[in-house]
Amino acid sequence: MTTAHASGRSMLTFVLLLLQLSGTVEIPVQASTAAAADAEWPERQPLQQQAVDAMGTQRVASDDEDEPIELTHKSMVLRDKKFVLAMKKRTEAYGFDKYWADPSTAPFLDFAPIAPAASPRHCEVHKCVLIEGDEPCAEGRAECEGPRGHLRSFGEQMDLQSIEEHHAALLPDAPYFWREHVAKYKPVLLRGAASKVTNLTDWSDEALLSARDDADHLRCELKGGGRWWVTVEKNNRISHNDRFPLAEGYDFCRFIREYRHPDAPTYCIHSITDTLSDLPTKLSLPGVLACNELYNSMHAVRMWFSRGNTTSSQHFDTHDNLMLQIDGIKDIYLSHPNESAKMYMDHHDKYGLSPLNVDRVDLERFPHVANASVQHVRLMPGDAVYIPDGYWHVIKSTDRNLALAFEINTRRLAPEPWTPALNELYEHPGTLWAEQRKIMATMKEAWARDAHDEAEWTQCKEPLAKMPASLADYNGWVQH
Ligand SMILES: *[C@@H]1O[C@H](CO)[C@@H](O)[C@H](O)[C@H]1NC(C)=O
Ligand SMILES: *[C@@H]1O[C@H](CO)[C@@H](O)[C@H](O)[C@H]1NC(C)=O
Ligand SMILES: *[C@@H]1O[C@H](CO)[C@@H](O)[C@H](O)[C@H]1NC(C)=O
Ligand SMILES: *[C@@H]1O[C@H](CO)[C@@H](O)[C@H](O)[C@H]1NC(C)=O
Repeated sequence: MTTAHASGRSMLTFVLLLLQLSGTVEIPVQASTAAAADAEWPERQPLQQQAVDAMGTQRVASDDEDEPIELTHKSMVLRDKKFVLAMKKRTEAYGFDKYWADPSTAPFLDFAPIAPAASPRHCEVHKCVLIEGDEPCAEGRAECEGPRGHLRSFGEQMDLQSIEEHHAALLPDAPYFWREHVAKYKPVLLRGAASKVTNLTDWSDEALLSARDDADHLRCELKGGGRWWVTVEKNNRISHNDRFPLAEGYDFCRFIREYRHPDAPTYCIHSITDTLSDLPTKLSLPGVLACNELYNSMHAVRMWFSRGNTTSSQHFDTHDNLMLQIDGIKDIYLSHPNESAKMYMDHHDKYGLSPLNVDRVDLERFPHVANASVQHVRLMPGDAVYIPDGYWHVIKSTDRNLALAFEINTRRLAPEPWTPALNELYEHPGTLWAEQRKIMATMKEAWARDAHDEAEWTQCKEPLAKMPASLADYNGWVQH
């Protein structure tokens, strides 16, 4: 992460400040990236760079002619303008007030729009410029005069809660998992669930680089022996909205041979189920997914494979995740969609992301983070965690780290509770993203709580009639 201390402020900081003053915020996260490594990326980049350039600067539809909103995909411009515009639309002319006037139309309306405060540090996802006097806080020293966790890593600002946990010997079956976790929209830690469905040693570098038992090609190659081109990410921190710089088309065997080197790419992020990889044969279906509704909604198993010391942004996915930890440790910080405003999502230009710099949480700029409700899970090799869609998460990974994320599009939303008033509110031009998330989550929870008591449920009541021998037998993956 690019930070600079007031004492010894470098030329780089000066340049960063200049760029910020001129309104440009495209800043590389690692200024010291080795030239040798850089030389390789450009030749892999043209296609991706073209795509980014093609998106260029987008003009967002705006009813306000005087205030066109420009968002650029090459940078992370805070969405303050759009926020201001939405707030304008909450006037009577747009009919927003009626939702307060008649609580029966939107009984849970307790929205409190939250905007960032001013701070001189410009701390956003991919950068943070410390100023004079910040060192004690940033270094965690007692003389820090800021609030708890100020300029520290995400998670140090609040008391962390735990999530429900099942012991390896007593893992739930799919009907229970569906009823108590998927339908109720609740994360859960499943100790030992990964060890039950795969042999962890099959995923070591040695095993992946070894020859298959029944063939002369390597496990890191495709069935039949072709090279497997995967997507790799260069940095261990998010530096751009589009995850750039990354390369699509990197030989997986080569990644395994090189990834421990400091100049090599950090992360291989690739689905093991959308190509002719051999790896699905090494994996069987987790018991919690063994009912028709869950089994048939799996759309990918994505491998997250790094040398460690990576940190994600604060973000959410729009699908459920059952993450199997194969190697290394992951610290995961989860927050319910109700916390979306406290993650300032309306001040990032891309849906699903928070502008917080998770290595340096500037509580002067983002004070409400300290009041967010955050759950912490430490995932050990062999464990699994269920992260419902829309749940915010920051993931910090240490050591050689390999996880397999089952991505699931669960249909848990029944139409019944979507009253026209709530739909209308969701679509209202004055409704902020964070509020939409809250409406959506509340509907889902209400559905599990009220509309469908257990006896009436039809979904995921019976375990799968026949367990597949391995994930290689499953045909439902989305082909890219
Ligand atoms: C989310 O917010 C809604 C509306 O205030 C509330 O009804 C619901 O219980 C909240 N959910 C959680 C898990 O806090
Ligand atoms: C896991 O794989 C290793 C290496 O192939 C093997 O020695 C071990 O017996 C396997 N364990 C199980 C439980 O199958
Ligand atoms: C982890 O990564 C950060 C950011 O790139 C770096 O400052 C730090 O030195 C790294 N730590 C280790 C143990 O490699
Ligand atoms: C956080 O919560 C505390 C206690 O409820 C309150 O005093 C404080 O004002 C809140 N902070 C913000 C930024 O809302």
